[in-house]
Amino acid sequence: MNRIVIAIDGYSGCGKSSTAKAVAKALGYTYIDSGAMYRAATLHFLNNLTVLTNPKEVAKAIETMHITFQVNPDNNKQEAYLNGLNVEKEIRKMRVSEYVSEVSKIKEVRQELVAQQKKLGKKKGVVMDGRDIGTVVFPEAELKVFMTADIKIRAERRQKEILEKGELIGLEKIIHNLGERDRIDSSREESPLRKAEDAIEIDTSYLDFESQVNQIVSLAKEIL
Ligand code: C5P
Repeated sequence: MNRIVIAIDGYSGCGKSSTAKAVAKALGYTYIDSGAMYRAATLHFLNNLTVLTNPKEVAKAIETMHITFQVNPDNNKQEAYLNGLNVEKEIRKMRVSEYVSEVSKIKEVRQELVAQQKKLGKKKGVVMDGRDIGTVVFPEAELKVFMTADIKIRAERRQKEILEKGELIGLEKIIHNLGERDRIDSSREESPLRKAEDAIEIDTSYLDFESQVNQIVSLAKEIL
């Protein structure tokens, strides 16, 4: 069967990752969470106290950063590893969320991660979610989706997700973080967040999870 690339972009906290994961599962495709790569890079920069405005320090940090996705033997799930260490939990914490858009603005960081993402999608049969997947990483993707949702609804969903991982964060703080990330992601010079011209927009504010997954799977099947 014809294997395609599915690019899912959109604002922070729209449910891109969980939707992309379920779409990949339904089609027997590989799911790649590009945001996890930017989050792992941010954790690496934080761990090394890298000064983001110092080009030498940034270059050194990129050189010593090795990000991979591996199956965690404890739960059989594909998770993010930084220099051989499982960082899946650490990269979802607020400390990383607060810095990730600043690190993601850096041209050299994007060049490095975009190159890795392109390699990961070379064999097709992938669903990748992020901010610039349909515009920069895979401009030739056969199916592009752009997800949006009301910011309050996004924040409530995110709060629940974070709580399930053991961190209690106030709604106002989450709304602020999502808004700031959207603002920085949309206004940066290097591959800003924007809808690709040929992307199909899906507003998930009042869609249940199953419907949003089915909608994308149906679109994919029309192309296959
Ligand atoms: O997808 P997630 O919310 O985990 O992404 C975290 C951050 O990583 C985003 O707010 C954005 O700053 C950055 N990112 C990016 N380009 C991508 C994926 C994520 O700049 N393709």
